Amino acid sequence: MFVLPELGYEFGALEPHIDAKTMEIHHDKHHAAYIEKLNAALEKYPDFQSKKIEELLSDIKDIPEDIRTAVQNNGGGHHNHTLFWASMKPGGSQNVPEAISKAFGNLDGFKAKMTDAGITRFGSGWAWLVKSANNLEVYSTANQDSPLTEGKIPILGLDVWEHAYYLKYQNRRPEYIENWWSVVNWDVVSERLSK
Ligand SMILES: [Fe+2]
Repeated sequence: MFVLPELGYEFGALEPHIDAKTMEIHHDKHHAAYIEKLNAALEKYPDFQSKKIEELLSDIKDIPEDIRTAVQNNGGGHHNHTLFWASMKPGGSQNVPEAISKAFGNLDGFKAKMTDAGITRFGSGWAWLVKSANNLEVYSTANQDSPLTEGKIPILGLDVWEHAYYLKYQNRRPEYIENWWSVVNWDVVSERLSK
């Protein structure tokens, strides 16, 4: 049984960059629904229920075919959002890891790449900073696809589904992304990089 993780801060704690109502619906409704559907899909396969979400997504080909898509979508939705909540914090943090400036020239270079990945992802999906064969890479995935399924380790993910920003920003995805940078928790990014 997978359970909805705590947000770790109040719904309104990321205001004015991300509004309380969006956070509440995003966490309590969207994320909760992914978990509910993931648990439902795994119901008839007890062997898979005790596995970690990372294992399920990394070894997606081992998942029984009849629930594979459900696990990809809802398991991905669960893991992506779990990472997302933890990589934000009220007021953000300034502790940008050196590895990022090294890989992308400087912080602005990284932000520009990540922002572009988010803006150009057509429809719903995620922009990612990932570790891939020991290199840092920026790219995007569709829907709730996890980088883990492609053998990459997610370090920082940006949700660009409309449910992440529509109430406050409507169709202005670039404005949402610009504001999101103000709440990024670089301490968590550093921790993930050092693992
Ligand atoms: Fe989302």
